[in-house]
Amino acid sequence: MDIRGTDTPWLDWSGDAIALGFFENETALTGELTQLDEKTGGTLSELIAEAEFEGKAGSSAVTRIGGNSPLRKLIVVGLGKADDLTLNTLRLGAATVARLGKKEKVKSLGIKFPVVNNDAAATTAAIAEGIILSLHQDNRFKSEPEDKPSKLETVDIFGVGEQSEAVKQAQTVCSGVILARELVAAPANAINPVTFAETAQEIARDYNLAIEILEQDQCEARGMGAFLGVAKASDLPPKFIHMTYQPSGTPKRKLAIVGKSLTFDSGGLNLKVSGSGIETMKMDMGGGAATLGAAKAIAQLKPDVEVHFICAATENMISGKAMHPGDILTASNGKTIEVNNTDAEGRLTLADALVFAEQLDVDAIVDLATLTGACIVALGDNISGLWSTNETLAAEIKTASEAAGEKFWAMPMEEKYFEGLKSPIADMKNTGPRAGGSITAALFLKQFIKETPWAHLDVAGPVWADKEQGVNNAGATGFPVRTLVNWVLNS
Ligand code: BES
Ligand code: MN
Ligand code: ZN
Repeated sequence: MDIRGTDTPWLDWSGDAIALGFFENETALTGELTQLDEKTGGTLSELIAEAEFEGKAGSSAVTRIGGNSPLRKLIVVGLGKADDLTLNTLRLGAATVARLGKKEKVKSLGIKFPVVNNDAAATTAAIAEGIILSLHQDNRFKSEPEDKPSKLETVDIFGVGEQSEAVKQAQTVCSGVILARELVAAPANAINPVTFAETAQEIARDYNLAIEILEQDQCEARGMGAFLGVAKASDLPPKFIHMTYQPSGTPKRKLAIVGKSLTFDSGGLNLKVSGSGIETMKMDMGGGAATLGAAKAIAQLKPDVEVHFICAATENMISGKAMHPGDILTASNGKTIEVNNTDAEGRLTLADALVFAEQLDVDAIVDLATLTGACIVALGDNISGLWSTNETLAAEIKTASEAAGEKFWAMPMEEKYFEGLKSPIADMKNTGPRAGGSITAALFLKQFIKETPWAHLDVAGPVWADKEQGVNNAGATGFPVRTLVNWVLNS
């Protein structure tokens, strides 16, 4: 699919379908729209009237143009209130257009949307992202795809000039999002700690990143007792992955991204019961998948920032070797943990990963994890929780996420709740009371960070979508690759 920006007057364009964006309650035809209406024998005004199209966000209508018009179809898309226009409005509008175009078997598409903030490059990139991400279809596990692929061959975005760089950037970012989606969607018998590490190795090789993978004995030598405690019951070896992107000049900043990478979470001996979500726990490496996705994009975008990508990959299983509820583990910073629930395994793996990240002497650490069901209860499926020890870092993540159209909500790091994690026998327990479960999880992680500015993203909800929504199709979303990439690029 060839996406391009253009300055050719859209009225002269010919192709299968043209998509016109309208603001809410601004569907009266003026200027060039009147000309188009005349050229098409009143088809545009008829479509707007017949569909009772008012330009509401998310609304759309399509019709065929009769006669021998150089345009076959007209699509109108609602962009919502003009005052609320953001890049994400266009990203979502483009996704709507792309899905309609697929249904209508459109091969050549023209898009006429407003330019946001006079920024033609960002406008183009947002539209391109909406198209690419909404059309992505994962047929790897079907012998015969039931959903016919899109026929879209060319997309012309009007009024933005030639934007090959912006399109290329969008394609690169989307390749990272799609990698994350495919890793999350792959079942645990396809993506396990070993194949997950092989994927990291492929990315490192293809995009020139440094990589070291610590094997079990090396993790033992580093005293990673928390990570290894979780890994014990698996028949597959744990893999501690560390990839580094090094810019050619002196880095402006050094960052670390740490992703929870449980390729399957059975709960361990505190086994998840049927209906508790065990069936979808292949997605418990969503944080790690987004970390690899971000690595793939960042390695190609080449910012002046050093970035470390860390994934402590394993699966949480049951066997005679499994850690017992009540076991005491010692993490690599020497802290002891009473495992009062083996299903709170993500924080155990992250404990050693965070200690490792801080030893790299970075300026900031962000971890992302499908950490708690409690965070889903608090914020629902679409919003990630955000905890931070540093206001500036939290603001950076917020800004990056708003441009990406990915949602985060700042949550409290309520020190007092750490009382719920006090253990009579060890330094801490790994789980506290049910109430505020996502907050105590964040407080647990905080024990493994000394002073480096740190943010924790609980992405348990948004990495997976039950149904098609926005740029996401049902299933893995690739959240929050775009936020991570923006954060690094803005650093
Ligand atoms: N991976 C789960 C959290 C999760 C739940 C992710 C639902 C995605 C969807 C995590 O390891 C877990 O099991 N958390 C427990 C913690 C509890 C034992 C304190 C939970 O949320 O129930
Ligand atoms: Mn668990
Ligand atoms: Zn888990």
